[in-house]
Amino acid sequence: MKLSKRIENLPPYLFVETTRKIAEKKARGEDVISFAIGDPDIPTPRHIIDRLCQAAQDPVNHRYPESEGLPELHQAIAEWYEKRFGISLDAAKEVLPLIGSKEGVAHIAWCFIDPGDIALVPDPAYPTYKASIVLAGGQPYYMPLNEKNDFLPDLGNVPAHVLEKTKLLWINYPNNPTGAVADIDFFNRVVKFAQQYDITVCHDGPYSEVTFDGYQPVSFMQAEGAREIGIEFHSLSKSYNMTGWRIGMAVGNAIAINALKVLKSNLDSGIPQAIQYAAIEALTGPQDCIQEHNTIYQKRRDLVVDMLNSIGIEAKPPKAGLYVWAKVPKGYTSVEFANALLEEIGVVVTPGVGYGEHGEGYIRISLTIPDAGLVKGLSRLAGWRGVKKLAY
Ligand SMILES: Cc1ncc(COP(=O)(O)O)c(C=O)c1O
Repeated sequence: MKLSKRIENLPPYLFVETTRKIAEKKARGEDVISFAIGDPDIPTPRHIIDRLCQAAQDPVNHRYPESEGLPELHQAIAEWYEKRFGISLDAAKEVLPLIGSKEGVAHIAWCFIDPGDIALVPDPAYPTYKASIVLAGGQPYYMPLNEKNDFLPDLGNVPAHVLEKTKLLWINYPNNPTGAVADIDFFNRVVKFAQQYDITVCHDGPYSEVTFDGYQPVSFMQAEGAREIGIEFHSLSKSYNMTGWRIGMAVGNAIAINALKVLKSNLDSGIPQAIQYAAIEALTGPQDCIQEHNTIYQKRRDLVVDMLNSIGIEAKPPKAGLYVWAKVPKGYTSVEFANALLEEIGVVVTPGVGYGEHGEGYIRISLTIPDAGLVKGLSRLAGWRGVKKLAY
């Protein structure tokens, strides 16, 4: 069988390897505690599931959905943006439901990137940005995110010869994996930069509702002129614990939204309608669940950060998102450190280098693990023989 170069050159998705290692250990009867994947352990709120069950009973929803989604869902998304960020979107032209935001994030490159084009991508970053650009025949140009630049890309450092070929810019705040946040000034700077070099901006914002200590992230769409040059991806996955149902959205520039709609109409047949009704309920129904979940995550965040710092692993409490970005102790690479934890105490963390070369020196710890597992994992870490040797 002769596979395409495209697929041969594509590395396996980051978590495929992690999932395989966990499965192997579990098959040997070992008790593995995973802090690896950002997949909420708390169930989808009851009222959302009730709506889903009700919609599933209706034969109208047993048939092919429209690829572009129900008009009522477009409307619910537009209303949510208005309520949450004070932005009024044209529900028909500036909103597009997605089969989980990953689907749109992965497909948007095909709307902008021709072979030889460049896309600016943060490093470290959610791996799908890079993979989709490479699949579309483009070339990623990496913008380092580090402690010195507060994990915000330094746009002024991108060379002129790169900018000449650049069509797309990815940003993501609250950020996965670093936990960094961005304010409106940063987004305004991004808009100016994009206007100057005629670059389309894709802001990925699935963590905007997972926040701590009263912090409220802004939307990229609130920046002046954002709608002329960019789109924002969002998701119900993390806000409403709906990762399993696969539903998200893109909003913003009507030309970009239409391009994605045309592409998708050729590729997929939309989101199961019962799930679209559940999403409408999530977006328009009671919102107390968000604060309830955040209270749980915030407690976990504090437990994790305090514990890490107490054993000499440096980590700062993030203001938002589901992850703690912790420094790897001296003497280990991020992969070596993650492997040591897995092999010696059955604790899974994600090595920072998996998100790009500038993620080296860090591990990512997810807060989506039930409290009992979290406490057990942390106490294993505290008792780990390697702790005694930890030093920076
Ligand atoms: C930064 C980022 N973007 C997009 C996604 C995809 O989310 P979903 O496809 O569940 O909407 C994730 C999931 O972890 C993520 O971390």
